[in-house]
Amino acid sequence: MSSSVSGSIRKRIAYLSSPELGIRMDKAKILKWKFLLLSTLIFILWYTVRSPRTYRDIPQPHGPPKTCPLRISEQTITPLNNTKHFLVSAYMDQREKGLDIRIIGIFKRDSIQPLYCLFCCAGQLSNKTSPATILQHSDNFGFPFVTTDVMCQIPENCMATHVSVLTQPDSGMVFNQTLLPIRNQKTSEKEEKKLQFDFTVCISNLFGDYNNVLQFAQTLEMYRLLGVDRVVIYNTSCGPDLDRLLQSYSQEGFVEMVPWPIDHHLKPSRGWLFSESGGDVHYFGQLTTLNECIYRSMDRSRYVLLNDIDEIIMPYQHNNLMSLMDMLQQQHPNTGVFLIENHIYPKKPFGGNEKGLLHQWKGVPGFDILEHIYREEPNRNIYHPHKLIVQPRMVQQTSIHEVLMKYGEYFKVPPDVCRIIHSPISMPRPPEQLHLDTRLWDFTDKLLPSVTTVLRRAGLLGSQGQE
Ligand SMILES: *[C@@H]1O[C@H](CO)[C@@H](O)[C@H](O)[C@H]1NC(C)=O
Ligand SMILES: *[C@@H]1O[C@H](CO)[C@@H](O)[C@H](O)[C@H]1NC(C)=O
Ligand SMILES: *[C@@H]1O[C@H](CO)[C@@H](O)[C@H](O)[C@H]1NC(C)=O
Ligand SMILES: *[C@@H]1O[C@H](CO)[C@@H](O)[C@H](O)[C@H]1NC(C)=O
Repeated sequence: MSSSVSGSIRKRIAYLSSPELGIRMDKAKILKWKFLLLSTLIFILWYTVRSPRTYRDIPQPHGPPKTCPLRISEQTITPLNNTKHFLVSAYMDQREKGLDIRIIGIFKRDSIQPLYCLFCCAGQLSNKTSPATILQHSDNFGFPFVTTDVMCQIPENCMATHVSVLTQPDSGMVFNQTLLPIRNQKTSEKEEKKLQFDFTVCISNLFGDYNNVLQFAQTLEMYRLLGVDRVVIYNTSCGPDLDRLLQSYSQEGFVEMVPWPIDHHLKPSRGWLFSESGGDVHYFGQLTTLNECIYRSMDRSRYVLLNDIDEIIMPYQHNNLMSLMDMLQQQHPNTGVFLIENHIYPKKPFGGNEKGLLHQWKGVPGFDILEHIYREEPNRNIYHPHKLIVQPRMVQQTSIHEVLMKYGEYFKVPPDVCRIIHSPISMPRPPEQLHLDTRLWDFTDKLLPSVTTVLRRAGLLGSQGQE
């Protein structure tokens, strides 16, 4: 306020408090002054009540501090502005010295460029960016896009809650940037020891109009009988009946659906090799979702199983995964990666119908995994794939059949201890190459009623199923 204005106000106050006020002032003047006083009071009230950290506050482009986060990404796939890359999620990962944050992304291999991290530190945008270390995963199967980790160091004295990735080191112009929440924040050591789950299964991708309800219900219930606590499914799309089943499972909490709209951003491949199938990215970004699932599970699950929905990692000498892993871990204490051999169980039609489709399940879309009881002898002269049981805290980067970067040892589990029952939709084989293996039938007493229950819960049983 200039001195002349304040001088004039002083004069007015003296004037207002003079004894002749009532005589000198007419009604219009009183109203005008009442209005002025009231507006001043309202202004002062608004100014003090207004929180300096309100999210609606638009900070000035120059001069710290700037409040944050202004915008948080609600997407599982966030395009990185001014680049051809995508960000998926950010995790605290302080296992390597000098690196604190791992941002999992999908990067275009021919356009890798220097990047910088900008942090939100306890509500204030950091005034300094950190140069990023960019780690492309070694497996890309020839596709133009590859799973890539952006590693950054958190600035000193910053309680980082959110992070953004920039193409230039100057943070001044980018207070507007979308931020990713940083997950797996450090908790006290006592809390760290209590893991919510023993076993998590990661189903990397669900896509197309896949509607194999019976296979899904049987397999998920089989996982549950073996001791799995959580199944994470990355969902691009699925058929209508399977959608109903999975909605019901995720309401119950056994299944965690992660939206995965990769087809909105890239041209996913339907094959595993670029030279054969073309496209932008291996399958539907399977390599990215498997890594995402490992970090998602890191602070909450003792073990993570990386297999597809047509595969069951089956102990052959134990009744469940916990007793299997207790034994294996005791024999191999420094091991965090267990390779389980894949065995194919093609369908061979039954002669009779002893164990065929339950009467109640007639009309449910999909096939009965209990008919896949003929095991093919693997040809050990050619490459023989494995799937993985891992301790997530001992893994840095994973692929599908092996881990790319890890701590500790790995162990190939003998097939008589544990193997994968892999029931592909159709893969006819001459009967003389097949061996009867009814391990799945050991669980039918519990499996059949629980499958009927989940199908009924999802409203997927026809009139026969309602009894
Ligand atoms: C950045 O923030 C730190 C700590 O809040 C402060 O000491 C430093 O002067 C700031 N630097 C700039 C360039 O504003
Ligand atoms: C902030 O975002 C708004 C809306 O997207 C945009 O109009 C504005 O130019 C941005 N400001 C800066 C400094 O980037
Ligand atoms: C990129 O810019 C758009 C428009 O300003 C914004 O909506 C989006 O959140 C930005 N993305 C990132 C990763 O900052
Ligand atoms: C899977 O994704 C599709 C496409 O976004 C969606 O319509 C469907 O409801 C999702 N299903 C579940 C169970 O999340």
